[in-house]
Amino acid sequence: MAEAAYAKGLEGVVAAESEICRIDGEKGKLYYVGYSIEDLARHSNFEETTYLLLYGRLPSREEMEGFSGRMRSSRDLVPEILDMVRNFPRDAHPMELLQSVISYLSGYVRHKIQHSATCNCRDTLHQVVQLASVVAAWHRFHQDREYVPPRLDLSHGANFLYMIRGEEPDEYEGRVMDACLVLHAEHGFNASTFTARVVASTMSTCYSSISAAIGSLYGSLHGGANEKVMAMVEQIGGSDRAAQWVNRALDEKQKVMGMGHRVYKAKDPRAIIMEEFLLELSRRKNDTRYYDILKEVERAFRERMEEKGKPIYPNVDFFSGAVYNLLGIPKVLFTPIFAMSRVSGWLAHILEQRRDNRIYRPKSLYVGSAPREWTALEHR
Ligand SMILES: CC(C)(COP(=O)(O)OP(=O)(O)OC[C@H]1O[C@@H](n2cnc3c(N)ncnc32)[C@H](O)[C@@H]1OP(=O)(O)O)[C@@H](O)C(=O)NCCC(=O)NCCS
Repeated sequence: MAEAAYAKGLEGVVAAESEICRIDGEKGKLYYVGYSIEDLARHSNFEETTYLLLYGRLPSREEMEGFSGRMRSSRDLVPEILDMVRNFPRDAHPMELLQSVISYLSGYVRHKIQHSATCNCRDTLHQVVQLASVVAAWHRFHQDREYVPPRLDLSHGANFLYMIRGEEPDEYEGRVMDACLVLHAEHGFNASTFTARVVASTMSTCYSSISAAIGSLYGSLHGGANEKVMAMVEQIGGSDRAAQWVNRALDEKQKVMGMGHRVYKAKDPRAIIMEEFLLELSRRKNDTRYYDILKEVERAFRERMEEKGKPIYPNVDFFSGAVYNLLGIPKVLFTPIFAMSRVSGWLAHILEQRRDNRIYRPKSLYVGSAPREWTALEHR
């Protein structure tokens, strides 16, 4: 049999069939199970989108009510989990906590863990729902404040804001937070989703798969770009300094964070929606400083790229950090928020992987030593 071609980083390799996500990078289009991200962000919510991802279709009104009720009733954390969050080393990053807490959770929920597609993780939804509660609890404890028990009458996003602030967000803020979770819920065979599927392909548990995926997302090449965008915006300080900053960064061959994408060759559709949220939130809060800086960075960057004949557009991370900032969320929570949203996509992929499973087992191209003589220790 001929040797398969070597593709570094598996670029261009098709590793599975999937019905979950379609990305048209040339046209800048994204679909979850056939529904455009624009429709989902504007008309759906995180709970319904989670249903769509897990069941492959939109729910009826009755199904939605039942599903939403199950998600909401899973929000509260048991005392053992709260103790773990409270006692976790204070200097540890919340992504390290999330990775650990997922494994710990499996011992504290009514979860009939089965190493198969019949596992009831789709019914209990504990991992999907409780990640948000854990992130909120971590934030409260870090501020030396008490845990805020969840409200069951709020959307997933609005409840998250409520749990971190201890006050109900206004209707628009709640809607934006929830829509941000929709925007990040799924994105094909990215590194963390692939990680989840590799673990699932060994018929390990969904908890192990999701904990591994969180580890993958924690890496700076995957989650975390929006944190760096915010650091850039703070460093620039004012829109009048943005062009100079961009030109110097590009002259010094630095990457401008939040720009460019491996798959999209047009503006990331999620960035377009995120930009609308940022503009509206900035107006409502009477603070367009971050929006102005980002738009000026985008303009200056585009101008430089056009000179080189190489258009590169903003990705989802370009505007999301500023949106979170206006919602009062600190930078350290940006990647954990990504995790508490993408967990729906991970679970959908885990279930899909198990339905028609074959363990992942690629090969490596051996470039090491030729066979050689063993040398006894005393002769080395
Ligand atoms: C996302 C990213 C890793 C995609 O990488 P990629 O598809 O491998 O693209 P490449 O790194 O090969 O970039 C192709 C060219 O565009 C340039 N480029 C790409 N993104 C750039 C950016 N953000 N700033 C400046 N130049 C950029 C590269 O320097 C390269 O130029 P060259 O051909 O002169 O060497 C890359 O665009 C990037 O690092 N962006 C910033 C980080 C970020 O926002 N990540 C979040 C992604 S959702």
